[in-house]
Amino acid sequence: MVGVHSTVLGPGLGGTRMKVYERPDAAVQDVLRLSRAMTFKNAMARLPFGGGKAVLAVPSIASGDDRRGLLERYGDLVRSLRGAYVTACDMNTHEHDMDVIVTRTEHVMGTTVDRGGSGTSAPDTALGVYHGIRAALRHAFGSEDPSGRTVAIQGAGAVGSRLAHLLAADGAVLQVADVDATRAAGVAAAAGGTAVGTDEIMRARCDVLAPCATGGILDADAIAALRCAVVAGAANNQLATDEDGERLREAGILYAPDYVVNAGGVLHLAGLERLGWTEDEVRARIEGIGATLAEVFERAEADGVATSTAADRIAMDRLTAGATA
Ligand code: NAI
Repeated sequence: MVGVHSTVLGPGLGGTRMKVYERPDAAVQDVLRLSRAMTFKNAMARLPFGGGKAVLAVPSIASGDDRRGLLERYGDLVRSLRGAYVTACDMNTHEHDMDVIVTRTEHVMGTTVDRGGSGTSAPDTALGVYHGIRAALRHAFGSEDPSGRTVAIQGAGAVGSRLAHLLAADGAVLQVADVDATRAAGVAAAAGGTAVGTDEIMRARCDVLAPCATGGILDADAIAALRCAVVAGAANNQLATDEDGERLREAGILYAPDYVVNAGGVLHLAGLERLGWTEDEVRARIEGIGATLAEVFERAEADGVATSTAADRIAMDRLTAGATA
C-alpha cells in the first residue's frame, strides 16, 4: 500500500518498506506514520517534495521470481499515481529492487548507478548525522568538537559503521552495539572503540547516544534508563509516542529530532537524481543540517517545548508558507 501524506511542497517522496506485519492494521499504521514523517523531513530539508511512503506487507520476505513479480505489480501501482508519489529504498528493499520498479514507472529514485541512480545514500546519511551530532554538542556543551566525547552507537550497519569512522577520525570515544555481535565487534575494532551489548548501549554513560538501528526505541522505560546528555542518530521514528519528546526534555536530555538529523539520505537522492546538484552542493546542504538543528534547539527554548515539538512547528510553518505561496 502507498500512503501520500502531503503534496503541498511537491510529489510525496519516501521509500518502500517490505515487512512481515503481525496484523494488517499495523501495516496501515506504519504507512501513515512513516508518510507523515517524510512530509516533515522533506519540509525541514527545504526540498520541493511532500511526504509519502509505501509498505509491502508480505507473509515472508519475498525472493526470486516472487519478489520480481511483486515489485513489478507494485511498480504498476506507483505508475497509476501519476507522479503524486515517488519511491525509493527503505527497510528490506535495495537498489536492485528499484531497478525492477523502474521498468514499470519513472517515479523511482535510488536505482543502481548502471540504471542512472545515485548509489547508496548511507554515507551521506551518516555525514548528516555527524553534522547533527556536532550541532548538538555545541548546544549542550558549548563546543562542537567530538574529541574526547563518548558516543554510543546503536546499530553498526551501513549508517552506524560510517558514522563510527567519521567520529573516530575526530577523536571521539566510541561504544558500538548491534544484534549481530560480530558486526559490532568489527566496527568497534576498526574505529578504535569498544563493542557492548544491545541492552547495555541504551544505558551507556555517554555524551551522545546515536540510534542507528530501528525506530520506536525511546519510550518511558527506555528514557528513564538513559544516561546520556544528547540523543542524535539516524533511525526513523525514534520516539515511541509524541509524549516521549517531552519526557526527554524533562529528563534534561537534548534530543535531535530524527527527521532533521537523518535527512542526508533524501538530500543525496533528490539532489543528485532530480535537482541537478553537484556532489559539492549535496555536501553543503548536508552540512546545513547542523544549522537547521540549531534553529530547532533555539525554537524549543523560545517556545518552552520539546525539541520534537519545535521541529514539527518549524516544518508546519514551512508547509503553511508553501500552501499559500
Ligand atoms: P542497516 O540495516 O544497514 O543497519 C542497521 C543495523 O542495526 C544492522 O546492523 C542491524 O543488525 C542492527 N540492529 C537492528 N536492531 C538492533 C537493535 N535492537 N540493537 C542493535 N542493533 C540493531 O540500516 P542503515 O541503512 O544503517 O540505517 C540505519 C537506520 O537509519 C535505519 O533505522 C534506517 O531506517 C535509518 N535511515 C537510513 C537511511 C539511509 O540512507 N540508509 C536514511 C534515513 C534513515
